[in-house]
Amino acid sequence: MEILKTINDAQEYVLNQRRNGLKIGFVPTMGALHQGHISLVEKSTTQNDITIVSIFVNPTQFNNAADLEKYPRTIDADCKMLEAAGCNMVFTPDEKEMYPQKDERVFSFNGLESCLEGEFRPGHFNGVAQIVSKLFFAIPAHNAYFGQKDFQQLAVIKQLVLQLDIPVNIIPCPTIRESDGLAMSSRNLRLTPEHRSNSTFIYKMLQKTVELAKANNPTLIKEIIISEFNKNKLLKLEYFDIVDNTYLQQTDFFQKDTIYIACVAVWAGDVRLIDNIQIN
Ligand code: PAJ
Repeated sequence: MEILKTINDAQEYVLNQRRNGLKIGFVPTMGALHQGHISLVEKSTTQNDITIVSIFVNPTQFNNAADLEKYPRTIDADCKMLEAAGCNMVFTPDEKEMYPQKDERVFSFNGLESCLEGEFRPGHFNGVAQIVSKLFFAIPAHNAYFGQKDFQQLAVIKQLVLQLDIPVNIIPCPTIRESDGLAMSSRNLRLTPEHRSNSTFIYKMLQKTVELAKANNPTLIKEIIISEFNKNKLLKLEYFDIVDNTYLQQTDFFQKDTIYIACVAVWAGDVRLIDNIQIN
């Protein structure tokens, strides 16, 4: 497995493989890898000849300096996992390489970027769009893999490639969970044992949402689930919403032929967790 640090080297590597007629899969990450990330890598290895993973903790998508500083960095362990999963090249640029000068670009995605996560993390998706557009330039892949765990990010990135005409297929991948249902996340490493065991409550509430949706409208479901969260003394709910999966608009009634997603953000101590589930 090769480890490359500059955009020039990465581009040259990819273009060489493409000249040889090989299909390239790309998995962008911020490292601290777990089985969720690895499932994306494994999917890429089954659909491409060459799989490339980037590891870069992108400062422009953090709106909180402490969160950026506390973000776990485990590069040696990450590389071992990637090699075992069949990754061919890891791109690990430093900040100067990705941002030789301040990125002033401001993106607009018809409101996709300002609801849900965007409301509580202003500027977050602009930072994601900045880095992902740069990464797609450095790694001109055929296919790029993103987790449904971050379903709003996925929606934003689909819009990004449409707006910029980037010739890459965006492939959504299902959320991988711990055995008790907690969605895998690099941030789980920072949960206290008490918060860790309590956090399974989040997935229980999402499953309850799916059950309730069989016979109730979104407004009532929201009331019930929010009041359940408010009874849980260890988790602080930031939002719980039910939205359609394309425009991420809230709804009062379920419409036929529309897919709805229940999505949630909570604080477990000083760790912010997000999760979502498809309702129908
Ligand atoms: P990161 O949080 O490292 O996630 C990298 C990819 O792994 C994302 O597509 C994310 O949705 C996916 N992922 C994370 N946990 C998952 C899980 N439990 N199951 C399935 N997929 C999971 O998302 C980012 O990094 C960054 O915003 C990035 C796109 C790299 C831009 O900086």
